[in-house]
Amino acid sequence: MRIAVVGGTGMIGSAVVEEALRRGHEVTSVSRSRPEAVLDGVVVVQADASDPTVVEALLRDHDALVAAAVPDRAPDSDHRPYARLIENLAAHTGSTYVLIVGGFGSLLRPDGTQQRFRPGGSVEKYRREAQTVAEGLEFLQSERHPARWTYLCPPFMIRPGSRSGAYKLGTDHPVGDEISTQDFAVAVLDELERPAHLRTRFTVAN
Ligand SMILES: NC(=O)c1ccc[n+]([C@@H]2O[C@H](COP(=O)([O-])OP(=O)(O)OC[C@H]3O[C@@H](n4cnc5c(N)ncnc54)[C@H](OP(=O)(O)O)[C@@H]3O)[C@@H](O)[C@H]2O)c1
Repeated sequence: MRIAVVGGTGMIGSAVVEEALRRGHEVTSVSRSRPEAVLDGVVVVQADASDPTVVEALLRDHDALVAAAVPDRAPDSDHRPYARLIENLAAHTGSTYVLIVGGFGSLLRPDGTQQRFRPGGSVEKYRREAQTVAEGLEFLQSERHPARWTYLCPPFMIRPGSRSGAYKLGTDHPVGDEISTQDFAVAVLDELERPAHLRTRFTVAN
């Protein structure tokens, strides 16, 4: 497959790029700043994915697109570019499968409220980010968008670790507390290769 990873230089996106390469896919990594080092075989595109013409070209040229971008983490930053990215992805009418990396905060507690609303559920530093990312899912779920999308939430903790190749699967509720970025990437590629969660949210954990 031809796979574009928006945020391919980030913590999660870079693991997705590596896993896709490992499986023999053609990979395009997209970020606004130029990466310091580029893995062999990766096509680097330096572009702002909140620009609709950038998204349009990526969707036209790839079989799958992974959105692992993040709202600007600076205090009081403008999150509208991130929201525009999600809207532009949702509006596309082609056959490209779009996987959006979401957040733990939108996963549900047993009472149906979101994890980010429980005490300690959304660390202060990430509260605005969790809200904006959760709004992306609400937008996707709110109407019948034409795009072939899916939305994958990490558990509370995701960080680089080791690749076991295994993970637990769930839908709206957490199935564990943590996952390595490598195993998260395994789940991303499994979904792109054999779509099982079209137009739904799902989650994974080690
Ligand atoms: N437990 C959790 O729920 C959890 C934990 C971590 C992350 N996440 C979520 O996972 C996603 C990815 O997070 P991360 O930690 O991997 O982020 P990260 O390490 O900060 O990486 C973000 C990537 O996106 C790129 N990017 C940002 N805006 C862009 C734009 N407009 N156009 C093109 N590229 C853009 C960045 O590169 P440039 O800055 O050079 O453009 C970078 O490559 C986010 O939605 C985050 O909220 C969830």
